[in-house]
Amino acid sequence: MLRLENITKDYITGDSKVEALKGITLQFRKSEFVSILGQSGCGKTTLLNIIGGLDRYTSGDLVINGRSTKEFKDKDWDSYRNHSVGFVFQTYNLIPHQTILSNVELALTLSGVSKAERKKRAIKALEEVGLGEQINKKPNQLSGGQMQRVAIARALVNDPEIILADEPTGALDTKTSVQIMEILKKISKDRLIIMVTHNPELAEKYSSRIIKILDGKITDDSNPYNKEEEEKEDRTTKANSKVSMSFLTALSLSLNNLMTKKGRTILTSFAGSIGIIDAISYVLIAFVAISLVVSSIMIGIITYISVLERTKEIGILRSIGASKKDISRVFNAETFIVGLGAGILGIVVTLILNIPINMIIKAVTDIGGLASLPVAGGVILVIISMLLTVIAGLIPAKMASKKDPVEALRTE
Ligand SMILES: Nc1ncnc2c1ncn2[C@@H]1O[C@H](COP(=O)(O)OP(=O)(O)OP(=O)(O)O)[C@@H](O)[C@H]1O
Ligand SMILES: [Mg+2]
Repeated sequence: MLRLENITKDYITGDSKVEALKGITLQFRKSEFVSILGQSGCGKTTLLNIIGGLDRYTSGDLVINGRSTKEFKDKDWDSYRNHSVGFVFQTYNLIPHQTILSNVELALTLSGVSKAERKKRAIKALEEVGLGEQINKKPNQLSGGQMQRVAIARALVNDPEIILADEPTGALDTKTSVQIMEILKKISKDRLIIMVTHNPELAEKYSSRIIKILDGKITDDSNPYNKEEEEKEDRTTKANSKVSMSFLTALSLSLNNLMTKKGRTILTSFAGSIGIIDAISYVLIAFVAISLVVSSIMIGIITYISVLERTKEIGILRSIGASKKDISRVFNAETFIVGLGAGILGIVVTLILNIPINMIIKAVTDIGGLASLPVAGGVILVIISMLLTVIAGLIPAKMASKKDPVEALRTE
């Protein structure tokens, strides 16, 4: 089902070249538990990331269910990551501002599963790893072993054919490691598990095949796939359906993130609302324009900071199949919320300001209700505010979407 043909990977930094993989030829069975062993820097992570479509090979071919990936487009890789592969990382890589349940549901959201179905399947996956009781907790309320089980549930929820685990027990104590290995062994009954580990004992005890790598090359394979093995592989490749995040999901991801930083969001919205308050109170068009532009730039900068802070989250989303478009959508949703907030805040402040202003005018001139906010004007200003904020966020959102997933995952 999965075949690597003379895969090489070169990393070029400046004028030095690292040959991380030097011609890897390998074939995997539909269901087996493979351990990859080798010293630090020999290319294990590189190999796993290439198999999982997170990174691209330099030459050779990766053949998936009989189909060469040489001509794969971004959307083919996104769909492959979302439907066929589940990643488990050493550092769990859960999204901190989302509940356990939402973390697991996310991969399903990308594949367009309905809300009710999503919840049902995520709960089932969490129950399978023994976490049925903890679904509403946040990742930082769990132990390392529990977080890793959430990550396994997230990897499993789409029922992928392949689970890739990069040192899944690297950060866990012996007893917890054994629990994680038992779970992985159980799920390898009907799927392919490829695990990188530094622990030969665990590999010996739990996996059905051990591959050793040295300096970018395979030096040993305990149970190689042989040509005679007439595996009755059903060629039913999973529907290569399009994956895409709905704007609603993007909104909820952003809203959750904004709620964890309430202070800053209110400040940002306030910055945006200054433009509107001016518009109504002073009608100094030029001044209004300037303050709207200034607040837009501020919002652009704040969105940019948000992108930097959430680099890891971008990597996580990409690893579960989010496309570049999905990533920019998350940040556009964020500026959309901020813009709406700024607009509404501006209107509310104006309405409140109107009370004392009218009282003063009435006391001085005896004319009542002079300062008032026309409804249409208010609506238009909210729309303008939203438009400007969204435009201000477009560049940082685009930058976010262009981040390399492997690098993004590596940031802390
Ligand atoms: N983005 C990159 N740019 C340049 N070189 C890289 C990059 N990623 C990996 N390398 C190099 O490629 C080689 C293989 O790295 P890789 O991360 O695959 O090793 P590994 O076997 O997973 O090591 P470890 O056991 O320490 O995790 C190393 O020499 C590493 O320095
Ligand atoms: Mg590694």
